Order: sequence, then C-alpha cells, then structure tokens
Amino acid sequence: MKQLWNERYSDTAYAYGTEPNAFFKSQLDQRPPGRILLPAEGEGRNAVYAAMLGWDVVAFDQSEAGEKKAMQLAEAKQTSLSFRIEDAMEFNDDTAFDLIFYGFFHVPPAALQPIYTHLNTFVKPGGTILLEGFSTRNIGRGSGGPQNEAMLFSTSRIKSLLQDFQTLEVWEEEITLNEGPFHQGAASVIRAIGVK
Ligand SMILES: C[S@@+](CC[C@H](N)C(=O)[O-])C[C@H]1O[C@@H](n2cnc3c(N)ncnc32)[C@H](O)[C@@H]1O
Repeated sequence: MKQLWNERYSDTAYAYGTEPNAFFKSQLDQRPPGRILLPAEGEGRNAVYAAMLGWDVVAFDQSEAGEKKAMQLAEAKQTSLSFRIEDAMEFNDDTAFDLIFYGFFHVPPAALQPIYTHLNTFVKPGGTILLEGFSTRNIGRGSGGPQNEAMLFSTSRIKSLLQDFQTLEVWEEEITLNEGPFHQGAASVIRAIGVK
C-alpha cells in the first residue's frame, strides 16, 4: 500500500489539491489555534492550512513522497510544521493534542480499531476529534476512495471507533467533492465531531 501512495504522490500535481478539506476548514475557522495532530496527512493540504492559522501542527504519513510535497507546500505558503514519516501504529508523542482530524484515513478492516484506538489516546481531555471519510454508499460513485465495503465507513462503525468521546455527533452527508484529481464529484461521506 505504501508503494501505491508514493506513486500517487510522485506526480507534480497534488492528488487532493493544495486547499484544505472543506469540512476541516469550516471547523478550524471557528476554533482558536492550539496543538493539532493530522494522521495520514498525505501531501499536507490540511496541515499547511492549520499552520497558516497559527496552529502548532504535527502531521504524519507513511509516504515519503507525501512528506516531500507537504514540505514544498509549506515552503510555498511560507509557513512551518512538523511532518513525520511514520506508520500510524508507531506514532508517539510526549504531549497531548487539542484536536485530531482524521481525513479520509481508510485502512484494512483488521487495522481499523487498533489504529484509531491508538491515535485517540493522543487527544487531551476536553480536546476535539474531527473526522471525514467515505461512506459505504460511495461505492460506484466515481468520486474517489476505496471501492471495498470493508474499508469504508458507516455511522455505526465510526460511533464505535470514537466511543470514548462525549457529545459525539456522527452523520452521513451527500456532498460534492472538488479536491484535486482524485476527489471529484458527488460523494457520500461520514462526518464526526466529538469531545474527549
Ligand atoms: C486518501 S489519502 C488522505 C490524505 C490526507 N488525509 C488528505 O485528505 O489529503 C490516505 C493516506 O493515508 C495514508 N496511510 C494509510 N495507511 C497508513 C498508515 N498505516 N500509517 C500512516 N499513513 C497511512 C496514505 O499514505 C495516504 O497518504
């Protein structure tokens, strides 16, 4: 899988564009900056946006090509952030985060619960979790994401992954994606907001 992502990100174009995800942007625009973790951050579009707003950003991805593009984007936007090349299960940090955003972080079913349970521990008490990913209804839509039901999200699957969070809202939404060449068109997504 890592090879697939390195190949995708080796193009000069940004696979999901250079602008932040719309849901992420709308949430960040109404919150004061703090310390943010962006797991599986790809080519850095959300990390760069958060850094430009004054957030202390830690991002990671397994892809070296993604890290390279993220740092190029940060430089072009004259902002700075920490981007690590890491597998999600190896991620560690001494200081907890005010916010974690899971953006289209789809993994094989056996890895799903272990990865999210591990990363959720890095949210500080009172901190926020945000999530957007493709729903099982997105199969065959042609707007992006895995085409394998087991790797997609449902509201019940996400509620279970985020069960340690209070005031948890999880919902399904029909949206139009316009995020680079790989996220385009009518899509069914799951979104979530929770507080630890
Ligand atoms: C669809 S992309 C999303 C990138 C980014 N979050 C965005 O929305 O622009 C999924 C990303 O997950 C990363 N990924 C998948 N499994 C991973 C793992 N176990 N550890 C770290 N990164 C992983 C891939 O390398 C890829 O960059």
